Amino acid sequence: MQEAAQSKDSRIVLALDFPYEAPDNRSRVLAKAQNILKIVHPYICAVKINHHLVLPLGTFDGVQQLVEQIRGQGLLAIMDAKVNDIGNTNQTIAQYYYAAGFDALIANPFIGWEEGLRPLFEVSQRLNRGIILLCYMSHKGAEEGYGQTIIDAETGEKTLQYLSFAKKAVKYRADGIVVGATHPQKILEVKKIVDEEVPIYSPGIGTQGGAAEEAIKAGANYIIVGREITMALNPAKAAGWLLDSIKGI
Ligand code: XMP
Repeated sequence: MQEAAQSKDSRIVLALDFPYEAPDNRSRVLAKAQNILKIVHPYICAVKINHHLVLPLGTFDGVQQLVEQIRGQGLLAIMDAKVNDIGNTNQTIAQYYYAAGFDALIANPFIGWEEGLRPLFEVSQRLNRGIILLCYMSHKGAEEGYGQTIIDAETGEKTLQYLSFAKKAVKYRADGIVVGATHPQKILEVKKIVDEEVPIYSPGIGTQGGAAEEAIKAGANYIIVGREITMALNPAKAAGWLLDSIKGI
């Protein structure tokens, strides 16, 4: 990611998200995604693909074509699978996405290490790919899970769930951690724990109310941006404007 960000001079990860299309219009989804990539690639360092693109296009049909386009543009491809199952299932999910060319997957740390994340990290390390862990999501309901007060199983002390996840991300040597731009104060708190050991990815910019500048100032290494670019009348202009807003911070 560091190399891609440096060579592209950008810290923007494009979330390649589009609204639901009825069956007759589904072929348009791939064309839309290809077109946005063609227009926006000079302004970004990576692309994040979510289930709502894999579902209409298929992993080894449309999505693999897109991943090839993404990699060909010198960008990294991240699959936002929010992997969240038992280890064996997680490994198979990861193998399919890595076979399609993805560089990294997003996973949910609520599943825990043994027989959950560990097999996922093992397959990812073996294949030289990355795992990015959720830490505090960008939406309001995140507080109910990621914001809970918990008793740390190791220390027996009271702490907040997301601070515990931040510590675990360092311990597991995760390749990234996701903290919503809608919570800049939490980015600051998490940054104190992860420092530069685990880069912070921050979604929730624009449409969800987060500000790119604030997220980067609080310590985010990369911002994840979807609708603010994909739904803009002029996606290149929107991406260029966002890039300018964080230049030099
Ligand atoms: P918008 O359109 O709001 O889309 O810019 C945001 C994109 O990021 C995803 N998202 C998250 N992904 N942790 C994640 O791993 C989060 O906390 C989070 N919040 C938003 C969302 O699925 C969409 O693709």
